[in-house]
Amino acid sequence: MSEREHFGSRFAVIMAMAGSAVGLGNIWRFPYMVGEHGGAAFIILYMVASFVLVLPIFFAETIIGRRSRQGTFGAMEKLAPGTGWKWLGLLTVFAPIIILSYYSVVGGWSVEYLYKAVCLDFTNTPPERIQGFFGAFISSSGGPIAVHTIFMLLVAGIVLAGVKRGIERFTKVTMPVLFVLIVVIAIYSVTLPGAKEGVAYLVKPDFSKVDAHAVAAAMGQAFFSLSLGVGTILTYASYMRKDENIFLSGVGTAVSDLLFAILAGFAVMPAVFAAGIAPGAGPGLVFDTLPFIFNKMGAGAPWLSAAIAIVFFLTILVAALTSAISMMEVGVAYLTEEKGLKRATAVLAITAFAWTVGVLCSLSFGPLAEVKLLGNSIFDFLDKLCSDWLLPAGGLLFTLFVGWKMARPDVFDEFTNGGTLKGNVRLFNFVWFLLRYVAPVGIAVVFVTNLVL
Ligand code: TRP
Repeated sequence: MSEREHFGSRFAVIMAMAGSAVGLGNIWRFPYMVGEHGGAAFIILYMVASFVLVLPIFFAETIIGRRSRQGTFGAMEKLAPGTGWKWLGLLTVFAPIIILSYYSVVGGWSVEYLYKAVCLDFTNTPPERIQGFFGAFISSSGGPIAVHTIFMLLVAGIVLAGVKRGIERFTKVTMPVLFVLIVVIAIYSVTLPGAKEGVAYLVKPDFSKVDAHAVAAAMGQAFFSLSLGVGTILTYASYMRKDENIFLSGVGTAVSDLLFAILAGFAVMPAVFAAGIAPGAGPGLVFDTLPFIFNKMGAGAPWLSAAIAIVFFLTILVAALTSAISMMEVGVAYLTEEKGLKRATAVLAITAFAWTVGVLCSLSFGPLAEVKLLGNSIFDFLDKLCSDWLLPAGGLLFTLFVGWKMARPDVFDEFTNGGTLKGNVRLFNFVWFLLRYVAPVGIAVVFVTNLVL
């Protein structure tokens, strides 16, 4: 067996993990969830969910990954050989490939929108026509499949280059740039005339909107946004060096992810209010309304608005890429470690499979709209299956594995690097308590709420 690759530094680990976490979930999903669930109140719920429930799962996955130094299937075989846990391993190999397939469709939309922004389409078209763009585009066949293909090939190219030369190199350069770009957009957005109301919406909590639904939505969003429950973080952790600090990596990733989501909120919401659009417009918010806003605001300063449109869709595209590579790596690790495939063959196999499923997802907005799985289109079915069920199920099982199946001294050893990290030693009892009791009970509550609602 060849030498296993490692991330080069703590900075590299956090950038790769933050790259996985920061994605469409932050820029596309978070703003409309905030819009639907009461603005600032949702942000508070989301923070609590991230740090109390979801961070322990992050620790669970990193502990498993780094201890076993295997991908998700191999990890289960190594830490609990010959048990039913291997099914958790298999499930978590499969789920990210499914997520990748529909994620790539949305990633493709960002390729298309970037192209349109570069061609100045948003600046030079009458506003009425802009609003029709999104619906018309996603329900067509050739265009969306073409950009889905481009996105998938970009992902495959980076993963093919390897953990250090591909993933590490790409995320180390792009993640800091992404932060700068989102700050630039947020500044532009909050200084638009009429943006005040949008800012108020993000900072003044309205607790009357906080119900069981909002709580479940906040937890689901935190899971998705931190890439948890399906072995992505586990796989990245298997490339961590033994002297890396699991606690700091987790907190660094969670803070980056939260900060980015909030900045994205400030990039999107004030602009939405400035243009007089309802914040709860739903999933179309970013793709449907932002070009319209750039167009409308562009009347006074067309070049500025064209530049911001380009920067905005470039940010979405790059953020989506750094997440998609983490999904592909899970399957690649499995095929190379367990099935002995070459990296190139593994990348090809996963790309071909996810591309095909993605084509079906893409067509489900148009020609295949009538094909329903349990009442949902193919795209929605796969998204719900993963976000509402597979992620929480995987997360629950990972915490149970670390909290109840692994021996406490082993968990201690991994979390504290054999007792050498004094800060982590002091934190251990608290983390252990979160892992064993708080997180599993919390996730179980999300499940029941999803079932009942
Ligand atoms: N967290 C990413 C986002 O916010 C998406 C993502 C990457 C993901 N890997 C994942 C989601 C694994 C669920 C599971 O866009």
